[in-house]
Amino acid sequence: MKLLITGGAGFIGSNFVHLLRRERPDWDLTILDKLTYAGNPANLDTVKDEITFIKGDVAEPADVRPAMQGCDVVVNFAAETHVDRSIVDADDFIRTDVFGAYVLLEAAKELGVERFVQISTDEIYGEVLEGFSKETDPLMPRNPYSASKAAADRLAYSYWATHGVPVVISRSSNNYGPRQYPEKLVPLFITNALEGKPCPVYGTGEAVRDWIHVRDHCRAILLLIEKGENGEAYNVGGGNLLNTLEMGGAILDAVGADKKLLEHVPDRPGHDYRYALDSDKLAALGWWPEHDFAEGLRETVEWYRANEGWWKKIKSGEFKRWWKRYYQDEGRA
Ligand code: NAD
Ligand code: DAU
Repeated sequence: MKLLITGGAGFIGSNFVHLLRRERPDWDLTILDKLTYAGNPANLDTVKDEITFIKGDVAEPADVRPAMQGCDVVVNFAAETHVDRSIVDADDFIRTDVFGAYVLLEAAKELGVERFVQISTDEIYGEVLEGFSKETDPLMPRNPYSASKAAADRLAYSYWATHGVPVVISRSSNNYGPRQYPEKLVPLFITNALEGKPCPVYGTGEAVRDWIHVRDHCRAILLLIEKGENGEAYNVGGGNLLNTLEMGGAILDAVGADKKLLEHVPDRPGHDYRYALDSDKLAALGWWPEHDFAEGLRETVEWYRANEGWWKKIKSGEFKRWWKRYYQDEGRA
């Protein structure tokens, strides 16, 4: 089996590559990644001799065609992923998340791949103040990131409905775990707490997310490659609903830091106050989250504690400019 994994040098993509090396060691893996600020070759260091890595852009047909040639399966993780950045400037989100998905789907159609997994997100349902989103619910994205992901989700479906490309879609909730870029809540709060710095809580801190360990999401993607139904979307929820104050408190406890580090700052514009998923459809295929939340969070904190070099390098580079622009120039810290 030969796979093309786009965005494999990022957070979830690299965790997926590591999972496949353990669970499907005979599969042949090619990674196509542009190595944006979020892509990090160090994420693949321990497997670099067991994979093929191509630096390239999913929005460039000349990069995509040769990389996909001969592949049975494509898993598209490549995306701009940070909501706050999409609020500041959405250009790359449209280019990569929407146009990039189109370029990949066109190539998949022409090359006749046997499975195309589009990595979508629970954010496409928009804010869900009560109940749990089902796959049949309307899509009501409310920020440029989630709108671009909703476009790609439905574009992927259209390539199944119209052209018969065997597309399957995963819609996961918020992932946490090792190797996440420290702009996102969990690694930002862990690394700030380890440095004794404040952790910025947007608005009242009451926004709820459904937290899932990244390896549980990756197990779901593997299952979808092997057992997903063509044209279907599957929710992948962790079942751990916590608001920012609760999650921040749990992180500071796991680090052993003072809760006084939680500091309220102005809210995110268009902030979705709750996401929650009904994952029964995936459960029917035989998946459920295996990671206990408290244990998964402790393990995640230990990873950041043990890999200080990994995040200190990031935080002293591009991240520093982002932090200054968003949190200081925009008055959030
Ligand atoms: P990430 O930001 O950590 O990594 C994204 C990767 O994509 C990076 O390696 C980057 O270099 C690469 N990339 C970006 N633009 C590219 C382009 N034009 N061509 C090729 N590569 C490009 O993201 P992540 O958190 O690992 O998310 C991976 C996927 O999962 C995304 O599609 C995201 O929308 C989706 N998702 C994420 C979460 C989450 O909680 N992180 C939850 C649900 C869905
Ligand atoms: O729900 C899935 C999505 O989860 C993915 O599709 C996205 O790619 C991923 O970035 C994530 O989006 P969120 O916006 O939910 O994640 P983020 O870590 O940015 O924020 C989580 C919550 O914490 C949200 O309510 C905003 C809040 N927050 C975030 C940051 C970075 C803060 O209060 N302070 C912060 O500094």
